[in-house]
Amino acid sequence: FLTPSASDVHQISGEERKTSSSQCFENPPNLSSTCGAGRVEELAGLKTYVTGPSDSKRAVLLIADVFGYEAPKLRKLADKVASAGFLVVVPDFLYGDPFPMDFSNPNFDREAWMKIHSMDKGCEDAKPVISALKSKGVSAIGAAGFCWGGKVLVKLAGTEDIQAAVILHPGPMTEDEIEAVKIPTAILGAEIDHSSPPEELKKFGEIMSAKTEFESYVKIFPSVSHGWSVRYDDDNEFAVKSAEEAQEDTLNWFLKHVK
Ligand SMILES: *[C@@H]1O[C@H](CO)[C@@H](O)[C@H](O)[C@H]1NC(C)=O
Repeated sequence: FLTPSASDVHQISGEERKTSSSQCFENPPNLSSTCGAGRVEELAGLKTYVTGPSDSKRAVLLIADVFGYEAPKLRKLADKVASAGFLVVVPDFLYGDPFPMDFSNPNFDREAWMKIHSMDKGCEDAKPVISALKSKGVSAIGAAGFCWGGKVLVKLAGTEDIQAAVILHPGPMTEDEIEAVKIPTAILGAEIDHSSPPEELKKFGEIMSAKTEFESYVKIFPSVSHGWSVRYDDDNEFAVKSAEEAQEDTLNWFLKHVK
């Protein structure tokens, strides 16, 4: 899977695009259960990384990619959003079973994994998390979803359970899902992305901007690949800058729409 050429070409238009392209599994993070400035607590029955002021009325839910909630760069972003005053939660929607780093292992059954950890299930699991935040006194919630989590989030953006969404390099979304969006939504995509190619995201942007009830935009980041916002190479200055820009855009959307 880590050699892009053959498998990617197969997956761009193939059946597997419905789940995820191989780009979703590139540059896996080295997971750490203790990274970040926050703490792990239980929230709505899920182990959750929690960071930021626990009495904040404004919360941000981060929905991880297939590598889950112990990814150091995702937690670092959570801490960054938290330092702007948000209570940030990153639930373990994968139940301690993230996509393996060494998925070339022939014993790993990717299709079975995708079935167990379906994005529909992720969406169902997010709802009690949102209710739990509200019962703690939170009055406004923003959510950001990455890859797998982006696809989970587009479904939530079709409800009024949350106030704003940032969908980053999502798994393949449908026009129906975009048509259903009801809340301020930003979609950040990569120029090189087989799950959500720029042309498709631009079309989604047009569908959303035809609706005047809420603000929306689509931004394509040049010269970066799917996953760049949280799976960048620290030694690549351009990659780090692009990730930081995507993260700033995410925070700014929450500052504007989660009040
Ligand atoms: C994970 O750790 C290995 C070995 O230390 C290192 O080579 C690799 O760059 C690390 N990956 C990330 C994403 O930090």
